[in-house]
Amino acid sequence: MEVIRQIAAAKKHLREESRKGRRIAFVPTMGALHAGHRRLIETAREKADLAVLSIFVNPTQFNDPEDLQNYPRDEEADLRLAEEAGADIAFVPTVEEIYPPGFFTSVNVGRLSTKLEGASRPGHFRGVCTVVLKLLEIVRPDHLVLGLKDAQQFTILQHMVDDLCLDTEVVGVPTVREAGGLACSSRNILLTPQQRRKALCMYRALKRTHFLVKKQGILHTGELLQAIRSAVQTSGVELDYAAIVSRVTLEPLEHVVRGGTYVLIAIRIGKVRLIDNTRI
Ligand code: PAF
Repeated sequence: MEVIRQIAAAKKHLREESRKGRRIAFVPTMGALHAGHRRLIETAREKADLAVLSIFVNPTQFNDPEDLQNYPRDEEADLRLAEEAGADIAFVPTVEEIYPPGFFTSVNVGRLSTKLEGASRPGHFRGVCTVVLKLLEIVRPDHLVLGLKDAQQFTILQHMVDDLCLDTEVVGVPTVREAGGLACSSRNILLTPQQRRKALCMYRALKRTHFLVKKQGILHTGELLQAIRSAVQTSGVELDYAAIVSRVTLEPLEHVVRGGTYVLIAIRIGKVRLIDNTRI
């Protein structure tokens, strides 16, 4: 696996590969790689001739400086996992390389960006879209491979790609879960064993929602949300939000639309914020 740190070198290398007719799949990450990222890299491998990964803790998507500072970083372990998973190129730029002095541009995907995660983390998706658009222009991938655990991010980036007519196919990869059901996340390593057990309330609440919809035919979202709230709150964690929304517009639904609904949960445990979701 080749590690490239400069934009100019990455562009030169990747344009040459494209000229040779090699197809590129791209996995953007912020490092702290885990089994979920491994699945993304494996998917990239299956989709294209060249699997490219970026590792960049993007400061503009953090609205809380403490969160940015505490974000787990281990480049050596990340590069090892990326190579094992089959990545061909790791693009690992510095903050100055991506945001040189005088960088002013930002990308905003309107109303989709200000609700749910965007309401709890103002400016978060502006940072995500800005960096992903820049990375897409550097890599120019045929496929952009994203995890579906970040459901709102997936919807927003799909919109950005469509709205700006970018020549890349957005590929969503289902959430990878740890043995007990906790969704793999870079932030999981910040949890104590006890917090990790508590965090399972999200998975339990999502499974219960599936049961209520599929086995008991409950479609009224008010009733389902009530069940989610009590499942989370009885576990002693702080619920940031629970929402049942359209997968296309991210607008709240009064009734579940089978095949078109996201159930989204965000919690806080101590200083750690976690999200999870399911599709119905
Ligand atoms: O999902 C992430 O890790 C980040 O939001 C992304 C897409 C790499 C942009 O920084």
